[in-house]
Formats: sequence, C-alpha cells, structure tokens
Amino acid sequence: MTEEIKIAVVGLGKAGLPLAAVVADSGFEVIGVDTDERKCEMINNGINPIPEEPQLDELIKKYGGKRIKATTDYNDAKDCSAYIVIIPLYIDENKNPDFRILESAFRKIGQILKKGDLVVLETTVPPGTTENLVRRWLEEESGLKLGDFYLAYSPERVMTGYAISRLREFPKVIGGVDEESGKKAYELYSKFIPNLHLVSSAKLAEFIKIIEGCYRDVNIALANELFKIANELGVDFYEARTYANHEYCHIHLPSTGVGGHCIPVYPWFLIKEMEKRGKFSYAEILRTARHLNDEMINYWAEKIILECMKVKKPLSEVKICIKGITFRKGVKELYHSRNLALAKLLMEKGLNVFVYDEMFSKEEIEKLGLKWIDPEEADVIFDAFELKINRV
Ligand SMILES: NC(=O)c1ccc[n+]([C@@H]2O[C@H](COP(=O)([O-])OP(=O)(O)OC[C@H]3O[C@@H](n4cnc5c(N)ncnc54)[C@H](O)[C@@H]3O)[C@@H](O)[C@H]2O)c1
Repeated sequence: MTEEIKIAVVGLGKAGLPLAAVVADSGFEVIGVDTDERKCEMINNGINPIPEEPQLDELIKKYGGKRIKATTDYNDAKDCSAYIVIIPLYIDENKNPDFRILESAFRKIGQILKKGDLVVLETTVPPGTTENLVRRWLEEESGLKLGDFYLAYSPERVMTGYAISRLREFPKVIGGVDEESGKKAYELYSKFIPNLHLVSSAKLAEFIKIIEGCYRDVNIALANELFKIANELGVDFYEARTYANHEYCHIHLPSTGVGGHCIPVYPWFLIKEMEKRGKFSYAEILRTARHLNDEMINYWAEKIILECMKVKKPLSEVKICIKGITFRKGVKELYHSRNLALAKLLMEKGLNVFVYDEMFSKEEIEKLGLKWIDPEEADVIFDAFELKINRV
C-alpha cells in the first residue's frame, strides 16, 4: 500500500464503484458505503455488480474485500479521513430536486466526522448545494465548524461504459467551499485523478457540470427540430449534418428524446432556481428544449402509425415492434427512457405493440408488463436507436 490514508466512497453505483476502484488502484485503502447489502456482499467477494463496465471486473476481483471493503454501516468508515459522496439526486413530480437521500447520507457522515477530515460531493446538484445544504447538515450533526473540516465539490463526469477510462484521462474539476478546502481536496484528488483542475469555488464546479448537460439537452433538441424540418423539406438530415458540422458547428444527432438520470434532469436545476428567483425568462431555451425533447415521442408515434396504415390489416391488429427500449444503446437502464415511453404511448392508443431489446430477455420484458416479439415476426419495426421504420 502506498498511502496510509483511508478514503470512504459513499454510493457504489455506476459512478461510485469505478471511482472506488481507481482510488484503490492508486494505493489507498477504501471503505465503500452503500445501502444495498447484496451489492456490498458481491463486492466483498470480488464480484463486480456492474459487469457491463469495461475494466471494472479485474479491479473488483483484485481489490474487492481487500483494499475495497464494502459496508452498509457508516460507522465502519469512521477511521477514514476523506469522504467522497456519489449517490443519486432525483427530481420530484414538480421537477424540484428531492434532497432526502443526500441529506440522510451527509447527516450520517456528520455523525462520524472528525477534525481535519475532508468531504467531497460528486453527485450533480444545483449550484450552491455544497456550500449551503451540505455544510449545514455536516455542521449540525458533527458540532464542528467549516475550517475544522474541509468541504469541496468535484462533479463526477463518467459515462456508463467508459467510467474507468474517463477517470484516468478525462479532465475533472474540483472546487472548495473555501480556499483551504479547495487546496486540500485538490491535493488528495491529484493522487488518483491525473487530469485535475482546481477551480475557484464549489459552486462554480457545480455549475460547470450542469451547463455541460444543458448544452447537450439544448443541442439534441435543436437536432431533433432540424431533423423534422429536413424530413418535411425532403432532404437527408444526416448528409446535411455531415457537411454543416465543422470546428464551430456541432449539430448533434436526433433521437426519440433524452433519457437516463442525467441530461433530462440537470436543466431543471437551473430552470427551477430561476423560477424561485422570479427570473422565469432567464431559462427560456432550457425549458423549451426539455419540452421539445420530451415531445419527440409524439412525432415518432405519428410516423409509426402512418406506416402501420399501409399494412393490409385492421390497424389494431398490425404487430408493431419497438426495437430498443433502454434510454441509450448498450446501457441496461430504463430511467426516463423515451423509447419505453414511446412503446407505452402507442399502447395507450390501442395499438398492438411488442418490444425487443438485445439487453433484455423475453422474461424480463414480460416482467415489465410488455409483450416480447422476435422483430422478424412483426409487421412494422421501429428501430429506436437507428430511427428507422421498416415494414416487413
Ligand atoms: N452513471 C453515470 O453515467 C453518471 C453520469 C454523470 C453523473 N452521475 C452522477 O452520479 C450520481 C449517482 O449516479 P449512479 O449512476 O452511480 O447511480 P446508481 O443508481 O448506479 O448508484 C447509486 C448508489 O448509491 C447507493 N445509495 C443510495 N442511497 C444511499 C445512501 N443514503 N447511502 C449510501 N449509498 C446509497 C445505491 O444503493 C446505489 O448503489 C447521479 O446522481 C449523478 O449525479 C452519474
């Protein structure tokens, strides 16, 4: 072991576990805290609970139960001198952030926090969360004051499927809630993150992560809009995009909308904050992009129905196959999947909808309350990733 210092990683999910593995691989002892008992057991037995993540298998096999000890009990992390937190922040039905999971985790950390400890949040959060809420929860529980402990924010920038390589190569920023916290956090993180940049504050680091998501959401909305216009004009969007894109123009790819835990969520952090401040008009593009992307399923539903009408069968008997229901190709995740939403929308319209997805077995599809089909047996196939409608 190259380092004596013990680091706790709270949240061993798709983002947290690869980080825990990279920290362990840099010579640190890691205590992984996660509420999921089964996941902890697997990790301690050297079994990777996220097998679709390249390079993670070998790291968990090497360090699981040894240099990485997973536990559900925060008290097992009381000897750590740094706490890195990567747990989910969801939005509620009104699109406001629901801080309950974060509050519970930080209050538990507060109860074991000692003088000189460093706490770093990595979950994507509204700007100001670390310096206001997180600081308050930690101070209230520990009885310590900022300065007794250090607090920083460093947005996690992994992408499922590229988590380890991103941690090792991708630029990552870190910012403290005060100068000393920034310095301490930078000093520690640079021991396991090679491409690290210290920025002026935690709030700025929070903002950096969100605006990246906003950029992508808005640009996907633009691509979706231009795609619809191109089809209406009878020109090939993809050919146009190839020649339009250059150093200063990067038109994204169209889709059925934007899914997953990240991009459809982050714009709401800014939209809601501006609404709270009475600055409704400041987030107009962000709001419109969210709406446009969510509405794409109506566009595709109409196209699919028009194709079904060409089949020589009553409309309600035409077998439609939605091929691909995850939010992104190759990632077994259905959260906010617009492909799944499209299948459900067509079902609500009384159509005969089946689904197929290479990531899911027939049984798994049926457990979701959907009908499975071999695409070759369908009358109309919509490939949700290729955006192609085929009549068989
Ligand atoms: N996965 C990605 O590609 C990605 C990309 C960008 C940002 N993120 C960020 O990372 C955060 C986490 O995402 P993820 O993909 O790792 O989620 P995930 O659902 O894969 O993992 C979250 C983990 O946290 C655990 N957990 C929940 N509550 C807990 C608690 N109170 N204490 C300890 N553990 C708890 C869960 O059991 C789970 O193992 C997201 O909110 C997002 O901000 C993820």
